[in-house]
Amino acid sequence: MCGTIILREEKSEMNKDQKVLYSGMQATGNLTLGNYLGALKNWVNLASEYECFYGVMDLHSLTVRQNPAEFRAHARELMMLYIAAGIDPEKNCLYLQSSVPAHAELAWILDCFTYMGELQRMTQFKDKSARHSDNINAGLFTYPVLMAADILLYQTDVVPVGVDQLQHLEITRDIAQRFNSIYGDVFTIPEPYIGKVGAKIMSLQDPAKKMSKSDENPNASIFLMDDPDTIRRKCKRAITDSEATIAYRDEQPGLKNLFDIYCACVSKTPDEAVAEFAGCGYGQVKEAVGEAVVSVLKPLQDRVKELQKDKSYIDNVIKTNAERAYYCANKTLRKVKKKVGLTEIR
Ligand code: TRP
Repeated sequence: MCGTIILREEKSEMNKDQKVLYSGMQATGNLTLGNYLGALKNWVNLASEYECFYGVMDLHSLTVRQNPAEFRAHARELMMLYIAAGIDPEKNCLYLQSSVPAHAELAWILDCFTYMGELQRMTQFKDKSARHSDNINAGLFTYPVLMAADILLYQTDVVPVGVDQLQHLEITRDIAQRFNSIYGDVFTIPEPYIGKVGAKIMSLQDPAKKMSKSDENPNASIFLMDDPDTIRRKCKRAITDSEATIAYRDEQPGLKNLFDIYCACVSKTPDEAVAEFAGCGYGQVKEAVGEAVVSVLKPLQDRVKELQKDKSYIDNVIKTNAERAYYCANKTLRKVKKKVGLTEIR
């Protein structure tokens, strides 16, 4: 174990000139095509440019009651999806948030530097507590502080997040600045990373809503592990319009969304896609979208199935990456504890 840590240390010293990028996803439910095209797919390309940390955010998932066995399996599956998507666990640090205790420790310390009023203003807290009025727990309230801890522990420079998480990044910056103004430069102040074409995929049944893993309508979302026939059927049933014109415009949001999916899958521009389908009916577009999605997801699914068979490989990835995350996180945590006056045992 000692040897591994020294090895990892050398690696992170080696990458000192690279900026640090941090992101993660919650370990609940099934990821959708939206999560893949909007986030995961783009993460793959960032490895050469940044030193990347990608967490499986299992502590955040505890704000909702979980079935323990399913939850554990989901966290592992998310880890496999990261790898299957092409994120190399040798070049990037992929780890489970709960295997690094520093997250919970720093979150507590930062709780004491965060105001009730700030947390009460968080729109996600307001939304979630309205939707789950039977379980408005304190974890849901302090969720953004744990997220701040995630980000700040790794001296993160950039955080790729969707617009729904921008407010959480903003509070992270506020907390970090507040802490730094009292104790000196302890934390790097993170910036949002705005990707080039972070496709925003909408519901197939209501193009005004984002594609979501918790949509009640099973035809609204394509899940990453949906089989090819299910994917084709969902695309076929996608809501379009009665204009019967092939165009990429806001007035035809259903068709626009189908083109966004298509373009993200086959790496084309909307103009190219519109030209390709000129004179076609919507049925043909839907069919092509279905095939494009299948051809993107099928290799991903095959890879996940392969990884599922190789228990010791995943176990090893979970262990070695956790060690590296632990090392980096604890460097920051030690500094924080010292600054606030907690006693260190040597
Ligand atoms: N809250 C994020 C989401 O639901 C997940 C998350 C937790 C995260 N900690 C993070 C994302 C740190 C980026 C950085 O999408």
